[in-house]
Amino acid sequence: MEYINLNAQYKRLKPQIDANIQRVLDNSSFILGDFVGEFEEKLAKYVGVKHVISCSDGTSALQLIYMAYNIGRGDAVFCPAMTFIASIEPACMLGATPVFCDIDEHYNICVESLERQIKRVLSEGKYTPKAIVSVDFLGSPANYDRLEKIAGKYGLLLIEDAAQSMGASYHGKKCGSFGDIAATSFFPSKPLGCYGDGGAVFTNDDDMYRLLLSLRVHGKGKTKYDNIHIGLNSRLDSIQAAVLIPKLAVLEEEIEKRQMIAKKYDEAFGERFIVPRIEEDSVCSYAQYVLCCRDEDERGELQQRLKSADIPTLRYYPNPLHLLPVFEGINTYGENLERAERYAKCSFGIPFSPYLEKDEIERVIGTIIL
Ligand SMILES: Cc1ncc(COP(=O)(O)O)c(C=O)c1O
Repeated sequence: MEYINLNAQYKRLKPQIDANIQRVLDNSSFILGDFVGEFEEKLAKYVGVKHVISCSDGTSALQLIYMAYNIGRGDAVFCPAMTFIASIEPACMLGATPVFCDIDEHYNICVESLERQIKRVLSEGKYTPKAIVSVDFLGSPANYDRLEKIAGKYGLLLIEDAAQSMGASYHGKKCGSFGDIAATSFFPSKPLGCYGDGGAVFTNDDDMYRLLLSLRVHGKGKTKYDNIHIGLNSRLDSIQAAVLIPKLAVLEEEIEKRQMIAKKYDEAFGERFIVPRIEEDSVCSYAQYVLCCRDEDERGELQQRLKSADIPTLRYYPNPLHLLPVFEGINTYGENLERAERYAKCSFGIPFSPYLEKDEIERVIGTIIL
């Protein structure tokens, strides 16, 4: 059994994917070719935003955003303590200071913790609060009603890190359309993944769109060789767009299948473990399905049992950001980040994909619930 069965999806979409890749090879248009433009348009329509700027990966998508908004030295960026480092890494690279916040019961940034941290940074006066990066962790949309209010109250930029939440929605609006600007990743295992690295930025702002188009190609001006900004080389390959177009066409159907499988898992595990809790009137894309155990020992014992039965599991993620070696000694402003720490210790992901077979689901359940 695979942790995420990408091959089953490929088998289903093989004729379209193979034909599209062949077209790229025949046209020799490998970077930012026709497929890229077509994919950007289709994704913008699907998510419900004016512009999609595809790029080389999700980390670069976030870097382009931090660069476009001039975030750097002296700025504080607020980030959940439980996410992948890429949510905040590009801001750190630009010289900004990360301020970690605890997570809520949905495993997303806790609004109360966020507000406490903003107030502490303001009263210390060393850094300027600049942006909040909100992650739809595991594909579960964050509470954008509350986050938009907090961002507005303190005049902060709200960035949605939708790397794990393509296909998810909050109050009828698709993830990728929240905050001032959003980013996603097309890493192969993501709900909308390609066959290599890929990412995108989402914006409704025409000026921001033009700036991002320039930044993703070395800060180009009218042409590639009259550069007007310091930018990046962050373009999406045509082959990746050729793969993503047929995958986007079935995303909605896959999201429905993900709901059905998650429901079966919820029913089987809901009494024994903490299962994913989704915001009201929201749809989760279940980039991962994670069980949270009573304690570290129970988590370890279950992972071992599943391993012996040849069922893969994954700790996603085993460390909160503030405990990573790279952030050793970072100022956490005395905030208690215990929910992020507990999540890291006690949780693990089990096999999940829209292509998980009935007998596989039963085997996972039967191995966990004895
Ligand atoms: C929450 C989050 N942000 C950012 C990224 C970075 O995306 P990429 O791996 O495409 O650079 C990832 C991907 O792993 C992610 O999960």
